[in-house]
Amino acid sequence: MPADTHESLYEQLFSPGTIGTKKTVNRFTAQPMEANDGELDGSVSQRALDRYAKLAQGRWGITVVEAVSITEDSRARVNGLVISRKNLDSFRRLVDTFRAYHPEGILLFQITHAGRKAGPTSRKAGMYEDGSGDVHILSDAEVEEVRQGFLDAADLAWEAGADGIDFKICHGYLGSEMLRPANLRDGKWGGSFENRTLFLFSSIRELKKKYARSGFIVGSRVSMFEGIRGGCGTADGGSLIEDLTEMKQIISGMAQAGADYINVSAGIPGVTSEITRPTNQSRWFFLHHFRYCREAREAAGNAALIGSAYTILKEQACSLAEENLTKGLADFIGFGRQVFADPLYPEKVRTGRQPDYCISCSGCTRLMIRQVNDGCMVYDPYYKQLAKETFGR
Ligand SMILES: Cc1cc2nc3c(=O)[nH]c(=O)nc-3n(C[C@H](O)[C@H](O)[C@H](O)COP(=O)(O)O)c2cc1C
Ligand code: SF4
Repeated sequence: MPADTHESLYEQLFSPGTIGTKKTVNRFTAQPMEANDGELDGSVSQRALDRYAKLAQGRWGITVVEAVSITEDSRARVNGLVISRKNLDSFRRLVDTFRAYHPEGILLFQITHAGRKAGPTSRKAGMYEDGSGDVHILSDAEVEEVRQGFLDAADLAWEAGADGIDFKICHGYLGSEMLRPANLRDGKWGGSFENRTLFLFSSIRELKKKYARSGFIVGSRVSMFEGIRGGCGTADGGSLIEDLTEMKQIISGMAQAGADYINVSAGIPGVTSEITRPTNQSRWFFLHHFRYCREAREAAGNAALIGSAYTILKEQACSLAEENLTKGLADFIGFGRQVFADPLYPEKVRTGRQPDYCISCSGCTRLMIRQVNDGCMVYDPYYKQLAKETFGR
C-alpha cells in the first residue's frame, strides 16, 4: 500500500467489508440522496445517469440509489424515480452505467412509498389519523397492495441488475409510520408489536427465501428515534421521550428474518430535521447517531450495520469513522450530503487529494423543498445557477 496516500492512514475504512454474501471494496457508503431529476413518469433521466456515473468514479463501497417509489402516486418529489416494468430499461441503464465505472461497487435500490410525505402529484396516505388533515388512511387491503408493491419493486431491482434493495422504513415515510407505537389502528397492520412489524418482517423473510441462492442483498433503513409523540424509538403511543427498547426488538426481528444489513438513521426530515441531518448549529447530534448504532449493534446479530450522518464531521469524519469501525460500532460509514458535495470523496481521500467538504448550508434541501432538481449549490455550477433562478440570488 503506498505510504503517501490516506489509504494507509485509514486502514479500516479502506479495508474490504462484507454485506450478506458479498464483499465491498471499502467501508464508505453513499447514502440515498433524492435529486428530483427523473423523467415525469419516474424513469431514470440522462441527468440521473450522469450523477450515478460520477458517483461510481468515487468508488464508494456501497452506493444506495435514492428513494425509488413503487408507483407514480407514492412519490415525495414531482420528478422522483419510480420503478415499474415500463421504466425498467432506464434502471438497467443506471446499473450498466454505474458498473462501467465501478464494477466491484455494491449497488442497492432504496424502495419506498412516501406515505403522508407524498408530494403535490401524489396522494398523501397514512396508517392512522393524526389530525394532520388531508391524508387518505389506507385500508388493510391497500396496505397489502403496498406490501406487494415493495416485493414487486424488489423483483424489478433484481431484474435491473442491482445487488440488492433497501426498504425505506425511516424518515416518516409510510414504512416508518407502520412501525410506530402510535399506529394503533384496528386490523392486521396496527396495534400489537406483531401487527406493526408484519409488513417489514414478512417482506424480508419472503425475499430472503426467494433469493436465497442468488446473494441478492435485502435490508432496510430505519429511524431509531423519530422525535415525535408515539414515534419510532418511544415506549408507547403517548410518549415523546426516547426509549429504544422496541427499536432494538425490531432490529433483532429484522436480523432473525434474514436481513443482510440495517442502515441506522433517525428523525423525520421536515419535522425533526436536525435529528436526521445535523447542521452547524446542531453539530453534536452526530453523537446521537453514533449511539444509535452502538445500541443497534447487539440486536443486529450478523447483519451489517451502516451508520449515518457523518457529513457534519468534515475533516474529522474519516478518523472518527476509523475509530467506530475499529471498535465494532459500525461496519459501514454512511455519508449523505457529502455525496452531493463531492461524489468523488472516497477516491480523493484514498489518493490524498483535497475533497470538497459539504458546508452544511442546507441549500440542497431548500432546492428539494421547492420541487426543482436538487444537488450541491455550493460546488456544482448547475445547481448554483438553479439556486439563483429559484431563490433570486
Ligand atoms: C437533499 C437530500 C435528499 C435526501 N434523500 C434521501 C433519500 O432519498 N433517502 C433517504 O433515506 N435519505 C435521504 N436523505 C437523508 C440522507 O441520506 C442522510 O441520512 C442525511 O442527510 C444525514 O446524513 P449526512 O449528515 O451525512 O448528510 C436526503 C437528504 C438530503 C439533504
Ligand atoms: S448544498 Fe450545502 S448542504 Fe447541500 S451538499 Fe452542498 S454544501 Fe452541503
